[in-house]
Amino acid sequence: MQFAGSHILSVTQFERADVERIFAVADRMQPYAHRERVTKVLDGAILGSMFFEPSTRTRVSFGSAFNLLGGEVRETTGFENSAIAKGESLYDTARVLSGYSDVIAMRHPAEGSVAEFAAASRVPVINGGDGANEHPSQALLDLYTIKKELAGRGRGIDQLRIAMVGDLRYGRTVHSLCKLLCLFKGVQVVLVSPQELCMPPAIVEELREAGHDVMTSEVLEASIAHVDIVYSTRIQEERFSSQQEADLYRGRFRLNQSIYTQHCEPNTVIMHPLPRDSRDTARELDDDLNDNPNLAIFRQTDNGVLVRMALFALVLDVVEQVDAHARDVNWYTAGRF
Ligand code: CP
Repeated sequence: MQFAGSHILSVTQFERADVERIFAVADRMQPYAHRERVTKVLDGAILGSMFFEPSTRTRVSFGSAFNLLGGEVRETTGFENSAIAKGESLYDTARVLSGYSDVIAMRHPAEGSVAEFAAASRVPVINGGDGANEHPSQALLDLYTIKKELAGRGRGIDQLRIAMVGDLRYGRTVHSLCKLLCLFKGVQVVLVSPQELCMPPAIVEELREAGHDVMTSEVLEASIAHVDIVYSTRIQEERFSSQQEADLYRGRFRLNQSIYTQHCEPNTVIMHPLPRDSRDTARELDDDLNDNPNLAIFRQTDNGVLVRMALFALVLDVVEQVDAHARDVNWYTAGRF
């Protein structure tokens, strides 16, 4: 695809070569994300960050990624702090804010809303999550993490074996990840959820049409026995009509160190898009996994910065200029990475 000037709204806009291009650019961002080098390639550019649903990782890592490329961030969070609360349309909001920004990252609770906003925007818009629909940058960072985690084991994304566990109905990250996996070959997917929270049938059909082996289950232990990746998800309580309804499912699938040791192959990688729900009633990924070296959740969040830097560099067409605007860091950097 032509990245320069494009919106990033859905993973369905990518071919496999596009994903590989994003990953190659993400690799090149490592010295900057890891605070070895500083680049000012986007000096003077402005990111409009508009998050109308709660977010920690996506909002802050999009902002950090833009800062790390030398740009500045202007953000608004929550409808209550925006003129949308006064009845302004997405069209008007897009026309206005795209005059203030060079690129926009946006999250909104309604499916299709980010695409509607993008249609009126004068600058590229990146979907930071639209309701239960899609979360393309998360799927990219998840797949980038899978690639890196498995590389040292002589395995790749082709022939991947993955169990996706939890709320597969409302979890937009697993929707985008499944669609992205359709670009690869010979994937085995085990979908573990309560029947009421199963993966949308259209996405299961897409996986099967891509030639992938798809199994469904309501039992965690047997489903995680022969996979490379266990990808756990939170019950998306904000999509339910009541807390009581969400309570019916919370805590149904809990992975802890004991279950991992008993049922998983050695070195099975544990992933989660985060936030994990650490309340006693949920604990889909127990804290007792925190010292397990195969817990990749914080490598995922670190990789998110690399992937989001790559998206900005590609969409704003500065990939080949990043290093020319760089210098070494001149402050103390702890060994974080
Ligand atoms: N994974 C993710 O979307 O996290 P946030 O809701 O914190 O952005």
